[in-house]
Amino acid sequence: MTALGTLEDLPLEYRNGLTARNLVPLWPNLRAALPHNKPSRRTRPMLWRYEDIRPQLLEAGRLTPIEKAERRVLVLANPGLGLENMQATPSIYVGMQLILPGEVAPNHRHAPSAVRFVIEGKGGFTMVEGEKLPMEPGDLILTPSLLWHEHGHTGSGPVIWMDVLDLPVVYGLEASYALEGPSQQPRNEPDASQTRYRRSGLIPWSATTRTRADYPLVRFPWQEVRQALADLATVTPVGEAVRLAYVNPETGHECMPILGFSALLLRPGETLRLPRHSASSIINVVSGSGSAAIDSVELRFDAFDTVAVPTHAEVKLDNASSKHPAFLFVVDDAPMQRKLGFYEMFG
Ligand SMILES: [Fe+2]
Repeated sequence: MTALGTLEDLPLEYRNGLTARNLVPLWPNLRAALPHNKPSRRTRPMLWRYEDIRPQLLEAGRLTPIEKAERRVLVLANPGLGLENMQATPSIYVGMQLILPGEVAPNHRHAPSAVRFVIEGKGGFTMVEGEKLPMEPGDLILTPSLLWHEHGHTGSGPVIWMDVLDLPVVYGLEASYALEGPSQQPRNEPDASQTRYRRSGLIPWSATTRTRADYPLVRFPWQEVRQALADLATVTPVGEAVRLAYVNPETGHECMPILGFSALLLRPGETLRLPRHSASSIINVVSGSGSAAIDSVELRFDAFDTVAVPTHAEVKLDNASSKHPAFLFVVDDAPMQRKLGFYEMFG
């Protein structure tokens, strides 16, 4: 391989002349921008323990009233990317949000899209464009780009959920902004997951006669996902992943444009290698315990912990229990990479 010229190879006067004209020579920076074989990655394989996050979040509940926070969130920031940048991976923002009984996180909409994955508590709800969605532990709730959404809590005890956004992408494009609006009036109860999209393979007939809806289903109840994984496990050979993708029920395609969502069951004692791919991801542990080996880093996880996985990483998952399954929720940016034409899976 030919060694490329460095900045220092160039006469100072020439370099200063370039700088004065807002010009930069490519060749000293070429290998950094296009490294051979694998991208250079600043994202660290990381694990955030829920037992570390929870007390800090409850303390935030004491220190900061909701009116002073709007969204009371602690952000899981990857130190490799700079804490101030609030990125778990280059494309994925992750926050843990606390809402206390009677509190309201006011109605707004914004360019980045978000999902909520409920960690604990009962009585929380999210309203999306007038559709009121209950929030049970493990439920996935979509609040897509530019749709009105607000949160509330009519139960007792704290409600905590994980927010996952494509914020770093949209912010990086200088396209991130929000609008505030008056509180929504609920127009239906229960939500479409319990009324219109009850069974896979069945959709409202009217949906076949019109252009497919972008977001027909915005709540995926964990109860259904868990049962579907348990059923799939009975017909999946050991060594193959028991994994389900969350999709738009009308198109069968991924349910959000940038981020993709899946749920994985690690059977008792199971070890699983995930296919190495070009997407970055985060994993939240719904239940169980085990370890994730990410490239050369070994991380031990328990229920509700969150893991960050860099692009192109080798990932091996182990269920520590010989008796109980472990359930994992995975978010990656494969949908965006596919649309942009550079998604790769290496097997
Ligand atoms: Fe929001």
